[in-house]
Amino acid sequence: MKPFVIKQAEFVTSVGQGGQYPASLACEIAIVGRSNVGKSSLINSLCNNRKLARTSQTPGKTRLINYFLLNREMYLVDLPGYGFAKAGKTEQRSWGELIGSYLSSGRAKHLLLLLDIRHAPSAEDRQMFEWVLYYGVPFTLVATKADKLNRASRAAAACKAAKLLGAPPFAIPFSTETKDGRAELLTRLGQIADDSIVQG
Ligand code: GTP
Ligand code: MG
Repeated sequence: MKPFVIKQAEFVTSVGQGGQYPASLACEIAIVGRSNVGKSSLINSLCNNRKLARTSQTPGKTRLINYFLLNREMYLVDLPGYGFAKAGKTEQRSWGELIGSYLSSGRAKHLLLLLDIRHAPSAEDRQMFEWVLYYGVPFTLVATKADKLNRASRAAAACKAAKLLGAPPFAIPFSTETKDGRAELLTRLGQIADDSIVQG
């Protein structure tokens, strides 16, 4: 299977609750996970562009649904993260409405669900996973910040995180620092793009 070669990547638009999504494409892949897990960083790493998606050490950086267009044929969608301590009830509710309406729109052909390789999935991770199953969107689990563990233990830790989530016990270890998992994920993107074209 060939990797998806990203020749061009650009920011398209940000969408808030009640906002207008951009014109649909055959392939749209969205990235979900708790705040600070590394969603925006993963987009930048895949696209080899540190400035494409805004990242931050402070959780809660991404508040809107951000659309990125790859090779003018596929959307990668950066979703706001859940579970950061400072978010109030109102904010959590508006997050839920934004993500819920996105998932129920049927736009996402595939989700990358990110987990921190060092931690057991949180209650919110499990709730998110329930949503993913409920909406029936195909998914790939990615275990981020793999560089925080030694090389020998990464694969097992990634699979353990998936298992604890109640998913099939496999996740791709990923790191923006060591590029672990980058090639594997690009191959995955290629497969998803091919499948989307077949399905229409
Ligand atoms: P929200 O937008 O708040 O939902 O967060 P996010 O999931 O988009 O996280 P973001 O990409 O902004 O990254 C959060 C922090 O984790 C930043 O300080 C990143 O530099 C760091 N980070 C992301 N990926 C990695 C990684 O693979 N390794 C290490 N060591 N740090 C990482
Ligand atoms: Mg972000």
